[in-house]
Amino acid sequence: MAWIKALHIIFMVTWFAGLFYLPRLFVYHALCADEPGRERFKIMERKLFFGIMTPGAVLTALFGLWLLQDMAGVATGHWLQLKLLLVAVLAAYHIYCGKLLHDFKHDRNRHGHVFYRWLNELPVLLLMAIVVLVVVKPL
Ligand code: HEM
Repeated sequence: MAWIKALHIIFMVTWFAGLFYLPRLFVYHALCADEPGRERFKIMERKLFFGIMTPGAVLTALFGLWLLQDMAGVATGHWLQLKLLLVAVLAAYHIYCGKLLHDFKHDRNRHGHVFYRWLNELPVLLLMAIVVLVVVKPL
């Protein structure tokens, strides 16, 4: 199971690379005034979302579920339920990023760069909360 946990963490880091960088790209995309620049951002965003972020999310969840079924029957505290709830919030954030990507693709962005700067903070808070829950297990 140590190998499964290592893979779980590796793909979690891959997923977070995208969760941190995609809203950053949205910040610069929202500020970009020229057409060639906007087209370049669209390519970068699509490759990051479909090539790195989404495979990272799916593999994190698969290896996480593998770890979970190995723990079945072992008594745990509430940290695990809370972690899974926060992971669900993270998945919703991921899907919302996909919606924003779609809007940018069709030049239908409705938000300013400040909105994306704030949006960028949410995965930071979720990462800190989830890592503390699984490592410290305070509940
Ligand atoms: C469907 C999604 C996920 C499931 C089902 C899942 C499940 C699990 C399980 C069962 C463990 C083993 C816990 C233990 O042995 O004490 C684990 C470990 C871990 N998970 Fe997840 N996880 C998921 C997503 C995530 C995410 C999104 C993160 C980070 C934000 C994360 C970070 C970690 C870390 C750092 C460990 C290692 C903890 C340690 O042993 O010290 N997991 N996960």
